[in-house]
Amino acid sequence: MQLRTGPDRGRRARAWVALSCMRVVAVASLAAAASHAAAAGDVRAGRVKAQLCQACHGMDGLSKVPDAPNIAGQIEGYLVTQLHAFKSGARRNEAMTVVASSLSDQDIENVAAYFAAIDVKIGKLPGD
Ligand code: HEC
Repeated sequence: MQLRTGPDRGRRARAWVALSCMRVVAVASLAAAASHAAAAGDVRAGRVKAQLCQACHGMDGLSKVPDAPNIAGQIEGYLVTQLHAFKSGARRNEAMTVVASSLSDQDIENVAAYFAAIDVKIGKLPGD
């Protein structure tokens, strides 16, 4: 990186620090996803557990209440990471903290595998 002086310098330095932090977070999440990928979940067992999620996310993974997101076809590793985050308290949400706390590590692998396995097709994009 070139060292600069003048009014631009502080801004550039801050942007660089922010970028470096994002890179660290990205690498950390990738590592977490990779380590979870090793223990693949069981889709059938996950379907049974998904009954716990049904009221808010639907068995089809499409949100049934305004504050719950769609999770159908979501990246498996992402689902696993988020469920662990709710369970550990690193990510907080009243409903999800309660639900995730009731799941074992294996349950998390299984429900993640189930929702990730839902086939999602994208139709026309807006403006097409
Ligand atoms: C009572 C409603 C409710 C139930 C039951 C519920 N959820 Fe959620 N879920 C939510 C809400 C609300 C959020 C959004 C949380 C937030 O804003 O951070 C959420 C978020 C999530 C997320 C994060 C999605 C993202 O895009 O980051 C995942 C994954 C998830 N839920 C999975 C599940 C699974 C799996 C179950 C069943 C084992 C379940 N949820 C049961 C309400 C619910």
